[in-house]
Amino acid sequence: MLNSLFYSRLYEWYEINHRVLPWRETDDPYRIWLSEVILQQTRVAQGLEYYLRFVDRWPTVEALAAADEAEVLREWQGLGYYSRARNLHKAAIQIVESLKLKVERSGELKVESIFPNTFEDLRALPGVGDYTAGAIASFAYNAPYPAVDGNVYRVVARLLDIDEAFDTTAGKKLFHKHIDSLLDREHARVFNSAIMELGALQCTPVLGDNCAVCPIREFCQGCANGTASLLPVRKPRPKVRDRWFTYHIYLQSPISNLQSPIFTLIHKREEKDIWYHLYEFPCEEHPSPVTGNPSPFTFTHVLSHQRIHARFIVHRVQKMPDLAGTIVIRWDDLNDYALSRLTLRALDTLRHKA
Ligand code: ADE
Repeated sequence: MLNSLFYSRLYEWYEINHRVLPWRETDDPYRIWLSEVILQQTRVAQGLEYYLRFVDRWPTVEALAAADEAEVLREWQGLGYYSRARNLHKAAIQIVESLKLKVERSGELKVESIFPNTFEDLRALPGVGDYTAGAIASFAYNAPYPAVDGNVYRVVARLLDIDEAFDTTAGKKLFHKHIDSLLDREHARVFNSAIMELGALQCTPVLGDNCAVCPIREFCQGCANGTASLLPVRKPRPKVRDRWFTYHIYLQSPISNLQSPIFTLIHKREEKDIWYHLYEFPCEEHPSPVTGNPSPFTFTHVLSHQRIHARFIVHRVQKMPDLAGTIVIRWDDLNDYALSRLTLRALDTLRHKA
């Protein structure tokens, strides 16, 4: 632990400056878990909308467990990283099933805790890593675990002037050792919230003049040594893989109104690859860029480790071709399917072109 003044400055700053967000107003572990999974790769403003829709539709873990995976994916649409949604649903089912087992075994009608309430049990849920388990354990139960996200790595790298990469195995170990000794074990809930929020609002990636008004600047070695803006250090990024896709958008319309498609063809991605179990227009992948035959529209779609060069060919047909693995659906029903983000972008372009 640092000097107690460090903690009182930090908590006072948090009290005054934190954003009021619904998952901070509750100690319901289900809601906290949901918010953390949504926020893993998502900005707070966008995550908030999804969070509110999810808790409105599935207010409890039992309700989520009773949903179909397709409905959950559909509600997740637009957030990307769909394995998060699949794991969320799988974990909800697991929680409810193990509760049923507990009830059967104990012969009691009610078991005290529906939601796992130890770090180890939380960590065992699909999609829950050290960060999420620590966040739920501390925010819901005030249990003495750190919740180390990117914001926290940044604050700690600067506070202690650590120039080791935080995203290597050795770096993580080093950071965790330091964070363990910084953690205010009696007040893990407020400590984790405050340090995260400091990273989000004050100790931001681009610092500008923020250090001048930082509540903990007198404890900050990065600030004292003039290294804060150079930290944290990351390991070199893996190379991004380029892929080239051609999408075929089949539109079947009445002859009297070629502009209003009635039917289209889509398929569900079944390979263990990007967008697993999401729907898109029939797709061909090419080993290298396609030349000639310019398409009506193309764009590049960037994922974390892949750059997809997509081109789209619109086929206006009187009769749908018989393509293996595809289904014919009504154009107006497209939104009932969980579509990849790239497909949503294409639809946007298509609608604006029409
Ligand atoms: N990012 C990840 N978890 C968060 C939280 N609980 N509040 C705000 N932003 C977050």
